[in-house]
Amino acid sequence: MPEHELAMMARTAWRNSARCIGRLFWEKLEVIDARTTANPDDIFDACVAHLRLATNGGKVRSAITIFPPAQNGKPGIRIRNRQLVRYAGYRESNGTITGDPEQLEFTLKVIALGWRPPRERSHFDLLPLVIDVPGDTSRFYPLPRDSVMEVPISHPELSWFEALGLKWHAVPVISDMALVGGGWRFTAAPFSGHYMATEIASRNLGDENRYNQLPGIAKGMGLDLRCRRSLWKDRALVELNTAVLHSFHEAGVTIVDHHTASSQFMRHIKIEEKSGRTVPGDWSWLVPPMSGSACPVFHRYYDEVALEPSFVSQPPW
Ligand code: ARG
Repeated sequence: MPEHELAMMARTAWRNSARCIGRLFWEKLEVIDARTTANPDDIFDACVAHLRLATNGGKVRSAITIFPPAQNGKPGIRIRNRQLVRYAGYRESNGTITGDPEQLEFTLKVIALGWRPPRERSHFDLLPLVIDVPGDTSRFYPLPRDSVMEVPISHPELSWFEALGLKWHAVPVISDMALVGGGWRFTAAPFSGHYMATEIASRNLGDENRYNQLPGIAKGMGLDLRCRRSLWKDRALVELNTAVLHSFHEAGVTIVDHHTASSQFMRHIKIEEKSGRTVPGDWSWLVPPMSGSACPVFHRYYDEVALEPSFVSQPPW
């Protein structure tokens, strides 16, 4: 397939992603053709290059790096990480968890491969990449520190917020999905956009089964945690989202709030309808995880068709 067709395939797969609220920018996806990059060391280098290109000093660029496709039905190259950048999760002997609970299992597997966590484990230890090339053993590669931009989280008014010691990485790079279409199956094709703040604040840091920060923040705000009617969770969510937006902005790192993202998506729908195309959509993913009804995307339903080319999930490691 010529390079321009590969690029069109990737951009169209983004346009077809029913769960993505950021699709207005689908034509601006940078496509890196790595179809001749086949050995694990070189694949790792290309992933690091992807991180640097996408991070772009904070002016985040949407990008995809496409490695060689799977050969007719056989297993293909796999990046075992769900995202290129994730934080390790460890279960301590007293039952508590250090780091990201979502990564407990992956962390154990990568330790079994021979990875040594830092001597002082923290809540934000970068996991190495795990790369599988058919016919070879899994290999792991620690990321160079300077390829991962991170943003420490502080709050514009609440001065104690910084002492929570929170941070997050600047760029989300999904690395476990396959790009599929026209008979091709690219099993290693990491792609990235920029963050919407709710992804970090409401979900990664806020979810009870992730970093579970809402109780601590509500306490800091002096709210009554015994009384659900005080809406302490909701009020803590607002301040955590405010903090993430503020911190990324201060650090000069691209991020979008859920109101802006929603209105961008409504614009995308208008443009697509004018072009005579249907917009596949999944309501439960498109509606932001906070203040849903305050966002225009809440007030309608979406076409649930699955169009190709597309990004599809693959069996986990
Ligand atoms: N929700 C995921 C995370 O927090 C990232 C998913 C992709 N997000 C994006 N803005 N492209 O890490």
